[in-house]
Amino acid sequence: MSKDLEKKADGIYLAGRFSEWLVGAWILESGGECAVMEMPPPTAGDINPALIVKKMLDEKGWKCRYLIFSHPHWDHTASIAEYRKTFPDAIFVAHYSAPLFLKMSEYYWTKGYLILRESPWDNVKEQCGNEWFLNNFNYIYQSDTLELSLAGEPLYLIYAPKHSLGDVHCLFKGVLFTGDWWLYEGDPCQDLAACSKAVESIERVEKFLTDKDYRAHSIFSAHGDNLFYDIDVAEALTRTRQYHLGVEEKMPDLRDWKNFGIDVLYRYFFPS
Ligand SMILES: [Fe+2]
Ligand SMILES: [Fe+2]
Repeated sequence: MSKDLEKKADGIYLAGRFSEWLVGAWILESGGECAVMEMPPPTAGDINPALIVKKMLDEKGWKCRYLIFSHPHWDHTASIAEYRKTFPDAIFVAHYSAPLFLKMSEYYWTKGYLILRESPWDNVKEQCGNEWFLNNFNYIYQSDTLELSLAGEPLYLIYAPKHSLGDVHCLFKGVLFTGDWWLYEGDPCQDLAACSKAVESIERVEKFLTDKDYRAHSIFSAHGDNLFYDIDVAEALTRTRQYHLGVEEKMPDLRDWKNFGIDVLYRYFFPS
């Protein structure tokens, strides 16, 4: 299926929204260098989004430098193997929490059915050879923030668990990508471990913007369904933080999850 590259903001393009979950496949560009963000599963009957993104980059003469994703949920990462094959020279960048969660299968109840999704890593191993999972990322960082560059234009990644324990925000050309975060009041997220970390994550993003004196003007969701242009980003973060503070007061059990450390899990599953 042919698709057009949609320009959503300066240097920010949407190659399409894929699969039944309509996850955005994003291209962030500066000076011909790109970061490709999200690796969604294909839409039924269509070719893999990796091939669609590649064709668009080739038409523009752009080069994919980085492959990044907002969080290690299946709908955002199911095509890792295809992206790896399609962009062999790109650097896969991931927060070190990601491989841990990607290695796990996802399961959840919906409409009375138990849905089980195999780990994206099973696909990676099958399709890319029997590589050990860490080898599938070229660059794994452990810090809370990371600065990348596209032809001199900074692209920041900020570890910010709220919707999932592997959430990473991406900040590029004044747009804050918040993954699958619910903003403002009423977050329906059921992942208590991540929700209890929400305040900490929001404070981290706020502090990052303040310390850098960075003027973020818009907030985009990874699915591309909520594009908040020219909004008061500080107010959006403040209101979201205040909501979560209120939830913590109403649900004191959440506090038990405060010490739920990625480090603990990581060391348990993957002792070095
Ligand atoms: Fe998600
Ligand atoms: Fe999602």
